[in-house]
Amino acid sequence: MARPFYVTTPIYYVNDRPHIGHAYSTVAADVASRYQRLRGKPTYFLTGLDEHGLKIERRAKEEGLAPRDFVDRMAAPFRLAWEELGCAHDGFIRTTSPQHRENVQALWKLMAARGDIYLDDYEDWYCVGCESFKTEKELLEGNLCPIHQKPVERIKERSYFFRLSKYTQPLLEYYEAHPDFVRPEARFNEVKSFVKEGLRDLSISRTSFRWGVPVPDDPEHVVYVWLDALMNYVSALGGPAEEGEAPLYDEFWKSSETIIHIVGKDILRFHTIYWPAFLMSAGIRLPTQIWAHGWLTVNGEKMSKSLGNFLPPGPLVEAVGADVLRYYFMREVGFGQDGDFSHRNLLNRYNGELANGLGNLMNRIVASILKKSLDGRVPQVEVAQLDPADQQLIDKAKAASADAAKHLEALAFHRALDTIWELVSAANKYVDSTEPWRLAKQDDKTRLQQVCYTVLETLRWLSIMLFPVMPEKCNELRAQLGMPPLLPTEQVDLWPSVWGGLRPGTQTQSATPLFPRFDEAQERSMLERLGVEAPNTKQKKAAAMTETEEVKDEFVEFDDFMKVDLRVAVVKEAEKVEKSKKLIRLIVDAGEAEPRQILAGIAEHYNPEDLIGRRVVIVANLKPRKLMGLESQGMVLAASDESGLSVLGVDKDVEPGSPAK
Ligand code: MSP
Repeated sequence: MARPFYVTTPIYYVNDRPHIGHAYSTVAADVASRYQRLRGKPTYFLTGLDEHGLKIERRAKEEGLAPRDFVDRMAAPFRLAWEELGCAHDGFIRTTSPQHRENVQALWKLMAARGDIYLDDYEDWYCVGCESFKTEKELLEGNLCPIHQKPVERIKERSYFFRLSKYTQPLLEYYEAHPDFVRPEARFNEVKSFVKEGLRDLSISRTSFRWGVPVPDDPEHVVYVWLDALMNYVSALGGPAEEGEAPLYDEFWKSSETIIHIVGKDILRFHTIYWPAFLMSAGIRLPTQIWAHGWLTVNGEKMSKSLGNFLPPGPLVEAVGADVLRYYFMREVGFGQDGDFSHRNLLNRYNGELANGLGNLMNRIVASILKKSLDGRVPQVEVAQLDPADQQLIDKAKAASADAAKHLEALAFHRALDTIWELVSAANKYVDSTEPWRLAKQDDKTRLQQVCYTVLETLRWLSIMLFPVMPEKCNELRAQLGMPPLLPTEQVDLWPSVWGGLRPGTQTQSATPLFPRFDEAQERSMLERLGVEAPNTKQKKAAAMTETEEVKDEFVEFDDFMKVDLRVAVVKEAEKVEKSKKLIRLIVDAGEAEPRQILAGIAEHYNPEDLIGRRVVIVANLKPRKLMGLESQGMVLAASDESGLSVLGVDKDVEPGSPAK
């Protein structure tokens, strides 16, 4: 029997409208929940809004509104954004709801009954942006918050404290006993080191403003906004509550097999230290995992108010459709790593992978050969007629299904898509090599039928495997295959494992292409509509600047350095470039769907054979250029001195594609 699965996003502050950083978390949680639903697990997906605190109170004031009116107004754009992005949440919590207020107070009382809350005087630094206290050690010069780069405020007031220090040891023991509690692992190590230093008690109430949940029996104080916010995960299910009082709480918290909080890396401490400590104190079970994803930049720049580049998801959905954006989020950035949202890459991936890859596979068979030569019907085939090439593709599909499942279980969405895309490429290669257009000319159609069936069944498998990421497109694909939409049902595992589900005789429907290719003019007008400068204009500006401006100093900004995408890659092939003394042509695996070709000027220092299998460091986002008529898609780093060149490597077998910083 499949046991319950509960996944949550952070609840978003409503001081601003939703941007792609928020959308990224929400899509990830939606993909995780859709996958588990496909597997037949009872699943609950929660998102919502963090509506209390000083930051919101001040923002409402700026807008000339009462906080209540302000938060009501801001809730709508978030709901709309998730609807537009196809994020099918089961719950949407707002921390200003009366039910939540009661549940926060109930948590407070449980912690107080444990003797974990006391009243004391407090003086410390506070960042309103983070809604968090800061130690002197954390601050940048000029008392700036390291995250918001804004001055922190000195706060001196009487406040209630939570005995966080008491939980230092229990937390360390819990981490030890639950080695998967925080992901990625490197982040878990950061958390452990922080806790090992010893924890200070935490101020959990405020008296200097009113916009929050009143402390039970002392309404002069409002509950610290992070205690209020973290409680949303339990409160949305109706907890804490006695057995039988809140069915959702019983099912998805108390007896859930998996409880995963997806969060951004900046709010890890709150989720991996404060939240478990509050729960331990209240005698409530802990979540199974906290998954911290990285941050997105936009076209290489940090999103910030001052740069005015907060990217809302709506216009992107309008331009390319929800599923394409979802695909891009999950494909472009390794979950857990920082990454860049680039409009250019979005369009490149669309044309290269969706239009030319999956869309083309579909068109070549369903809209073309099958329609012309087999009446558009799924052909009858005999297993005995299987050719080794057919069997190879079937084996590939089975391996992809098993691997993708493993990766989706582990929230390694990018790896799942890598695996699935290997299948798409293999299926396209299968079509190239079996040449169904030639088979269609033969009188005996047996082989043509076999080839078409193999591709159609592969497409059916793909329509399930890609469903968590692109639900709408997958149902369109299924409609074209003559299949009903996928309807996940509890305790029914729909993940593909048995070959041959597509019924012979089914009438396929070739409709409009799933992913019509964008031509250059369409891309240009799309970029213009989205307010992205066409590359030409950008280059011209940059050129004009170098002509007129002196180089100010010899340092580069950290953000500039971060624009260089350094990655580890494994050399798969290497050969000398004909007629060139210096160049070696390398084919490297940089953790992407397709290997890339890089030309390196190292032929005078290395034998090509000696490079095969080595892990090198490449600049992955260097503009491609042609050398001796061959395109080089990046650069291999090497150090040099009088004795010659030495190619940079790594001293462990790290995964290809791992970033180097
Ligand atoms: N309200 C708190 C969370 C409380 S959860 C109990 C909060 N809200 S937030 O709106 O500021 O941020 C919400 C999430 O968005 C965080 O996980 C944060 O990491 C994420 N992101 C904000 N900017 C981001 C990017 N540029 N890229 C990816 N995610 C980013 O913190």
